[in-house]
Amino acid sequence: MATVRADKIYKIFGRHAKDVVTQLENGVSRDELQKQGATPAVINASFQVREGETFVVMGLSGSGKSTLIRTLNGLLPPTSGHVYVDDQDITTMPPKDIRQVRQNTMSMVFQHFALFPHRTIMENASYGLRVRGMDSSERREKGRQALELVGLKGWENHYPRQLSGGMQQRVGLARALAAETDVLLMDEAFSALDPLIRRDMQDQLIDLQHKLAKTIIFITHDLNEAMRLGDRIAVMRDGEIVQIGTTKQILDEPADDYVAQFVQDVDRSRVLTAGAIAEQITTIAPGSETSSTLELMRGADLGAVFVVDDALRLVGALSYAAAAQAAGRSERWIDGSVDRQVPTTPPEAPIVEVFEQAAGTELPVAVVKQDGTLLGALPRTALLRALGKQATSTNHQAQQGFQQPPAGAVQEAADV
Ligand SMILES: Nc1ncnc2c1ncn2[C@@H]1O[C@H](COP(=O)(O)OP(=O)(O)OP(=O)(O)O)[C@@H](O)[C@H]1O
Ligand SMILES: [Mg+2]
Repeated sequence: MATVRADKIYKIFGRHAKDVVTQLENGVSRDELQKQGATPAVINASFQVREGETFVVMGLSGSGKSTLIRTLNGLLPPTSGHVYVDDQDITTMPPKDIRQVRQNTMSMVFQHFALFPHRTIMENASYGLRVRGMDSSERREKGRQALELVGLKGWENHYPRQLSGGMQQRVGLARALAAETDVLLMDEAFSALDPLIRRDMQDQLIDLQHKLAKTIIFITHDLNEAMRLGDRIAVMRDGEIVQIGTTKQILDEPADDYVAQFVQDVDRSRVLTAGAIAEQITTIAPGSETSSTLELMRGADLGAVFVVDDALRLVGALSYAAAAQAAGRSERWIDGSVDRQVPTTPPEAPIVEVFEQAAGTELPVAVVKQDGTLLGALPRTALLRALGKQATSTNHQAQQGFQQPPAGAVQEAADV
C-alpha cells in the first residue's frame, strides 16, 4: 500500500515562476501577479493521503485541480515544493525513475476516456502493461481480470466506438486497475457521463474500493460526488486549498463563504452516511441482571441499550419499557426481554436509506460493520439533526461556469 504527500506545492505557469513563488510567499495577491502575466495555478498545497483512503479534490473550473494532480504523478514538475510517494521524493527524481513510479505505483484515469479508437477493449485495458514490457499472455490475463472487475466481461474484442460512454469510462478504469498500482489518480473521471450512469459508476467505485482498498485521489467539481466518494475532501479555490475535511466537517463547518456556497446545494440525506453521524450507545453483555440494567438505564436516562457479545457483535436491543416490564415480572436476567430484530445498516449507507427503517421501530437503528461488530447507533433524533442544518435557499451560482477542457484524450493516454 502507498501514501501520497504533498508538501507546500506551488505551480506557476509563465515566466519567472520562482520569483512569483517568492512574491506569493511575501503576500502579493494572485490577482496582482496575474495582471503581470503569471498564472499561479497551485499555491502552497499541502496534504497527506492515507493508505486506502479516497481523497477528493473539489473546486470550480480553473481552480487548479488538474494541475495539482499532475504534479502528484510527476507529469508536471512543481515550481517549488515536494511530492512524496511512500516517502520517496518524486520531485527530485530523474525522469526515468518518475516513469517507473507512474508505471508501478500510480495509475491515472482521465475524464475523456482516453481510449485508442483502433485498438480493441482488451488492448486498451492492457495498454499500460505493454508499455511496461509484460508478455502478452500475462497481459491478457490481467486485462481480462480488470475488465471483469468493471463489468465488461465479453467485450474484450470490441472497439471503443461500439461501447456507450459509461462503458468506455469503465475501460479507462479497467486500464488503471490492470496496472495493479496501489494509487489511482482520477481526474474528473465521471464528469462526462450522464447522471444515471455517473451514479452507477460512483457505486461501482465504492464497491471496488471495498474490495481493493486502493489509495485514490479523485478530482471533481461536483460536491455531491465528492461527498459520496470521499473519505476526506480538499476544496480548492483560485489555486489554494481552502479546506480539508470529512463530508460532515465541510457541511457543518464550511471554512468560508466559497465553501458555504457549494454546501448549500448539497442533499445532506444522500451524502451523509450512517457511519458519519452514528452516535455512541451504551451496551451491555448478554446475561446481564435485570435490576442493575434497569438502574443503569434509569440513572443515565437511556431509552434503550444494545446487547453485544464479547467480540462486540450485536446481539439485540433492550428498550427501557422492556427492561421495566421484566423487572415487574421479577425476571432476574434480561435475556428474555432482548429484542433480536434490531434494524441495522452498514456504515456507508446514505442516511436517506435509513429513514424507512427508523420509522418502523422505536429502537435506534444499529450501525453494523461488515464484520458484524457494532459501530454505533442512529436514534431518530440523530437522523433529524443531521438533516436539520440543510439550507433552505437554493443557490446555483456555484454550479455555473463549468467548462471542460477539450478532449485531449489520446494525448493524455500517451502521457502515461
Ligand atoms: N499548461 C498550461 N499553461 C498555462 N496555464 C495553464 C496550463 N495548464 C493550466 N493552466 C492554468 O492554470 C489554472 C488552473 O488550471 P487547471 O486545469 O489546473 O484547473 P482545473 O481546476 O483542473 O479546471 P477544470 O475544472 O476546468 O478542469 C487555469 O488558470 C489554467 O488556465
Ligand atoms: Mg481539470
